[in-house]
Amino acid sequence: MRKLGTPAEMAAFRATAPSNVVLVPTMGALHAGHAALIDAARARAGTGGTVVVSIFVNPTQFGPTEDLTKYPRTMESDLEMCDAHGADAVFAPSADTMYPPGDSTFVDETGLSRGLCGAQRPGHFRGVCTVVAKLFNIIRPHAAVFGEKDYQQLAIIRRMARDLFFGLEIIGHPTVREADGLAMSSRNRYLTTDERRRAAAFPAALSAATRESDPAQIVGKATDMITAGTGAEPQYVELVDAETLAPLAALDHPAVLAAAVKIGETRLIDNVRLAPRHAKV
Ligand code: PAJ
Repeated sequence: MRKLGTPAEMAAFRATAPSNVVLVPTMGALHAGHAALIDAARARAGTGGTVVVSIFVNPTQFGPTEDLTKYPRTMESDLEMCDAHGADAVFAPSADTMYPPGDSTFVDETGLSRGLCGAQRPGHFRGVCTVVAKLFNIIRPHAAVFGEKDYQQLAIIRRMARDLFFGLEIIGHPTVREADGLAMSSRNRYLTTDERRRAAAFPAALSAATRESDPAQIVGKATDMITAGTGAEPQYVELVDAETLAPLAALDHPAVLAAAVKIGETRLIDNVRLAPRHAKV
């Protein structure tokens, strides 16, 4: 496995790998959720193809009060995991090579990114779109794999790739969970033992709420159960159209129940998909 530290090194490596290049963008602190994405990329690339994992803690997607400086950095074990899961290259650039001094260009998706997490983290998805566009241009992958755990991010990247004619396939991968249902996340390691125990109520609440019959009941039940089980009021709970992310008044389209909750100092997000329901006749 090759480790590439600058956009120029990455581009030179890419020039030797003409077919079936599949990218898995990450911020490192890799866990089994990331490993599943790398496995999916390996399967999509095939034996002759090339899997590239990027590891870059992207400063522009962190707000001024967020955890950029304390974001976990575990490069040695990340490289081992990438190698063990069959990555051909890891692209781990520094911030000043990705954002050259005096840079003044950003990519801003202005529709899907305004609600849900975007409403609470202004500028977050502008940072995500900007860095992912840079990665797409440097690596020029045929496909890229993103997790459904960050459902809004996946929807925005799909939209950006379509709108800007990136001409690559965006592959969504199902959320990988711990045994008690908590979605794996690099941020779970911030949870104290007691917070970690309470965090399991979050996915349980979302899945229990999907058994309610209409959107208002689904959102109400999820909100109540998250508050009771985690001890924290959710930052948002919304039932939205799976594609447009617009709030749904009826379950007549594929939908996503998405929520965020801050347990202690740690902000967790999760979501579940709901198939459309048709009125019985
Ligand atoms: P990061 O949080 O490191 O996540 C990298 C990828 O792993 C994302 O596509 C995310 O959705 C996926 N992922 C994380 N936890 C997962 C889980 N439990 N199951 C399945 N997939 C999971 O998301 C980012 O980094 C950044 O915003 C990035 C896209 C790299 C841009 O900086």
